[in-house]
Amino acid sequence: KQLVFSGVQPTGNLHLGNYLGAIRKFVALQESHDCIYCVVDLHAITAQLVHDDLPGQIRSITAAFIAAGIDPKQHIVFNQSQVPQHAELAWIFNCVARIGWMNRMTQFKDKAGKDRENASLGLLAYPSLMAADILVYRATHVPVGDDQKQHLELTRDIAMKFNMDFMQKIRAAGLGTDILVGDEPVHAYFPMVEPMIEGPAPRVMSLKDGTKKMSKSDPSDLSRINLLDDAETISKKIRKAKTDPDALPSEVEGLKGRPEADNLVGIFAALSDRSKADVLKDFGGQQFSVFKPALVDLAVEVLAPVNGEMRRLMGDPGYIDSVLRDGGARAGARAEKTMKEVRDIIGFVQ
Ligand code: TYM
Repeated sequence: KQLVFSGVQPTGNLHLGNYLGAIRKFVALQESHDCIYCVVDLHAITAQLVHDDLPGQIRSITAAFIAAGIDPKQHIVFNQSQVPQHAELAWIFNCVARIGWMNRMTQFKDKAGKDRENASLGLLAYPSLMAADILVYRATHVPVGDDQKQHLELTRDIAMKFNMDFMQKIRAAGLGTDILVGDEPVHAYFPMVEPMIEGPAPRVMSLKDGTKKMSKSDPSDLSRINLLDDAETISKKIRKAKTDPDALPSEVEGLKGRPEADNLVGIFAALSDRSKADVLKDFGGQQFSVFKPALVDLAVEVLAPVNGEMRRLMGDPGYIDSVLRDGGARAGARAEKTMKEVRDIIGFVQ
């Protein structure tokens, strides 16, 4: 089975973008893949060092994973800081990656803002830790939203440079396999990861502005649906969502230049595991006054059980912590196997 890895930061409330872009895909992949899902608490301190309730945030993401349908027994659910091999490999990757690569990351530029000199060194090195998260398991498939695409390209660059720089040593240690990268045969220790971004909602947009990503940091709560919103709040937010005055088109092409309509149709499609084309077969020619109530019903039907189960689980922190400890122990054993080999390849005496 192919190995899937993905992570979610324990910062702020989870929203529909996190659910459709990531968590719902995590759930779907469990049948066909071996999956490792991580609450990336080390990443959470890169942009903001001190948090009011970091343990509560970590438990709430864990609860969301389980409530959405991830099986922590069959697969692995854990928090990053319990497996120190992530940080160890990230350090090595800090020495593989170039400063220029990091400076080009759009997420770094956005998060650091104007005062870049004053951003934490951790924020700059963030993608190196993300590459380590994935590659410490030598995972090959990474389900994420569209905003993580650039980070996954960098993960491939880091893997490639490590493979090239250490090719002789990898061979000498009897490790790695031959892979073809483009036309070039490479004896690789780390695989080239495949981003899994496809689907009808790879980038869920703000309900107030179809050109802006739905995000935890948007000051308007009406811009997003939170996983912990109740049915009435979900209904209100969808009813107030920005739209244009036209009826829905009957073909996907007709959504071009209509970002708000495109977004709502994408959300409907993702929530019902259908394509946008298929949704438009039902709603083409209909006004938003018909489409929005249908979307409210669907969103409540899908999200209410997740919301309820998440709240129930958060009332049992002992159980959540035991899931994380168990997952951390199993993840740690796998990560250590890679790190022993990596230390050998580099030449650290152990
Ligand atoms: P984070 O915590 O910002 O977001 C978690 C996941 O949600 C997706 N996402 C969205 N998808 C669609 N539409 C949106 N509006 C939207 N907003 C967020 C993100 O793409 C992500 O998949 N760097 C990562 C966490 C991470 C990671 C990793 C992911 C750390 N290590 C290793 C994969 C593999 C992040 O900050 O995600």
